Amino acid sequence: MDQHNALYRDAAADYLALARLDGKVFAIAGAGGGIGRQTARALRQMGGRIVCIDQNESRGRAVSDEVDAGLIVADMTDDRAVEAALARIVDEEGRLDGIVDIVGASFGAGLLEADADLVKRNFDLNLHQAMSVTRHGANIMSKSGGGTIVLVGSVSGMSSLPNQIIYGSAKAALHHFVRCAAAEIGHLGVRINAVAPGYVRTERMIERFPAESWDEIAANTPLQRGGETPDVAGPILFLSQNLSSFVTGQVLVVDGGLTSPIRALRDSSARQIAGRA
Ligand SMILES: NC(=O)c1ccc[n+]([C@@H]2O[C@H](COP(=O)([O-])OP(=O)(O)OC[C@H]3O[C@@H](n4cnc5c(N)ncnc54)[C@H](O)[C@@H]3O)[C@@H](O)[C@H]2O)c1
Repeated sequence: MDQHNALYRDAAADYLALARLDGKVFAIAGAGGGIGRQTARALRQMGGRIVCIDQNESRGRAVSDEVDAGLIVADMTDDRAVEAALARIVDEEGRLDGIVDIVGASFGAGLLEADADLVKRNFDLNLHQAMSVTRHGANIMSKSGGGTIVLVGSVSGMSSLPNQIIYGSAKAALHHFVRCAAAEIGHLGVRINAVAPGYVRTERMIERFPAESWDEIAANTPLQRGGETPDVAGPILFLSQNLSSFVTGQVLVVDGGLTSPIRALRDSSARQIAGRA
C-alpha cells in the first residue's frame, strides 16, 4: 500500500503532449482502403510519420502521396512479406513505434454454401495475417522499448449477421487473439487493441448496399446513421496515442450503438415496461 502511495502521481498531465505522435513512425497496413486512408490522415495530423502498406499499388500510392508517407507494396497474407515489410520500415525510417492493421474483407456466404477455399481465404485475410503482423511487429518494437498495435475486428465477430458466419468467426477469433496477445506481450511494452466497426460507409460498402439498406441500418442504430470513416479513424488514433497508455487487450465497438442491448428500449412498450419496473 505504501509503495502504491509513493508512486501516486497527482501532477497535471500534459494531455496535448499525450495526444501528439511527433517523432513516431507508424505502419498502416491496408492503408489504401476507406478506413485506412482516414486513419493515415488522423495519425499524420497528430505529427506521426506514416508508412503505408497495401497490396494494391495505386490505392496505396494515392494515400501515401496525400499524407506524405512512405509506401510498401506487399501481400500481408504472406508471412515472409510481412516480416520483410516491417524490417524495411526500421531500415529506412530508423524505428517503428506503432502498427495499424486494417487489412481484411468479408467473403460472405452461408455455412452450407461455403467451400473450404472460401473458409481459408476468410481466415487467411482476417485472422492469420493479423497474427503475422502482431508477431513480427511485437518482436521488432520490443527491441526499442515497445509500441502500439491496433487491429480491426467487426461487429460480425460479436453477432450472428446473415451470410457472415465464416467472416464473423474469423473476426471473433481476432478479438480473442487481441485479448490473449495483450497478456503475452504487455511486459515488452507493446499494447494491442482492436476496434470493431459496425456498418461503415466506405466506397466498397456504399457500392455493396443500396440506399434502402443504409436507411434500415440507420433506423436500427441508436445514433440513427451508418458509420463514416472518421468515426472509426478517431478511435484507432486514440488507441495509438499515449492517451490510451493503460489500455490493452480491448475490443472497442464502434457501431453507433447497433449491437448495444439498450436498443430494445427504443421500442415504446419496452420503455413502458422499464418505466414500471
Ligand atoms: N467498412 C465496413 O463497414 C467495415 C465494418 C466492419 C469491419 N470492417 C473491417 O475494416 C477493415 C477495412 O475495411 P475497409 O472498408 O476500409 O476496406 P477496403 O476494402 O476499403 O480497404 C482494404 C484495403 O486493404 C488492402 N488489402 C486487401 N488485402 C490485402 C492484402 N492481402 N495485403 C495488403 N493489403 C491488402 C486493399 O487493397 C484495400 O486498400 C477490414 O478489416 C474490414 O473487415 C469494415
